[in-house]
Amino acid sequence: MNDFVNQFWNWYVILLVLLGILACGVLLWSQDAAPASSKVDTTGHVWDETLEEYNNPLPKWWMWLFYVTVIFSLIYCFLYPTLGSYQGLLGWSSTGQLAKEVAKADEQTKPLYEKYRKMDFKALAADKEGNETGKRLYLTYCMQCHGADGRGSKGFPNLTDNDWLWGGQPEQIVETISNGRVGMMPSHAHLGAETIKDLANYVRSLSGLPADSVRVAKGHEAFATAGCTGCHGVDAKGNQALGAPNLTDKIWLYGSSEATIIETITKGRNNQMPAWKEFLGDDKVHVLTAYVLSLGTAPGSN
Ligand code: HEC
Ligand code: HEC
Repeated sequence: MNDFVNQFWNWYVILLVLLGILACGVLLWSQDAAPASSKVDTTGHVWDETLEEYNNPLPKWWMWLFYVTVIFSLIYCFLYPTLGSYQGLLGWSSTGQLAKEVAKADEQTKPLYEKYRKMDFKALAADKEGNETGKRLYLTYCMQCHGADGRGSKGFPNLTDNDWLWGGQPEQIVETISNGRVGMMPSHAHLGAETIKDLANYVRSLSGLPADSVRVAKGHEAFATAGCTGCHGVDAKGNQALGAPNLTDKIWLYGSSEATIIETITKGRNNQMPAWKEFLGDDKVHVLTAYVLSLGTAPGSN
């Protein structure tokens, strides 16, 4: 309501609410005031030959119940922010309530996170309770992109293997989760369809996938001349400072088919991991890092 430039809508809402409540009161009163005659009237409606509808006034206790609701709603309007931009005598607001609840929850969990903060990642990953906490955080904030089991999907990296775009050292993972990452593979459409196909064949051959040997040789050459080596390295093993993937490890962010690789090279890829430091705070990032590290050591995850 505070967003309006003039007071019209403010008063519009106030009047609408108060008149509505008042109208209910008047309606009740007019019904209540009808004299209860000794002779019981009928409304004049007759069904099934003899079935008549009596016109008795409503019982008193019933009417009073309605009066109480009218009075209650008037009191409520003045205590809570109901009337236009009026804040209410109690000063209650939904954001205020949320902030209070969050502060209370943080107060309760603070000692726990302080304990976790003092543990190193290895100890924390091995701690059953600490790992469970990490898992709960993961399932709340990370699952929608990286999957419940952490195995990711197309465009969202698998966190359970030991292949890392941005590095798998604890401090690198802390950095990834805290500040987010932007993976930028530029478009190379200017190279032309033929050269791109050569490159795709070369990239496939690096992971031992079937490829046309003539194109592989040409692609190998183009990989250097087109500047792929600048990011992916001369040996195509990637560069964690840029988030450029290792192209020789049989692990694919987008897919290994020739068509997918051609699409990646032609159109480029732009991918983003959101930053969590502001929202979750360092303590939760610490617990999440330990959890991500523990995913890689789960049996059979490599
Ligand atoms: C909106 C989707 C999204 C959410 C939510 C998300 N991530 Fe990510 N994450 C990504 C993307 C996309 C990348 C890959 C960025 C790139 O291509 O360079 C990524 C990358 C990562 C990496 C680096 C992987 C590597 O190989 O180096 C880690 C670690 C990670 N995320 C952990 C998390 C954790 C922990 C959470 C929860 C707090 C989380 N992510 C939530 C999308 C998401
Ligand atoms: C400016 C740096 C840069 C250059 C130059 C570059 N790449 Fe990339 N490439 C990246 C990054 C970063 C990614 C990961 C994108 C992401 O995180 O979504 C990537 C992803 C890829 C992928 C997808 C791998 C997968 O696992 O799905 C392929 C294939 C690829 N690049 C091939 C090439 C080829 C071939 C060239 C040369 C024509 C090239 N790249 C040039 C940075 C670069």
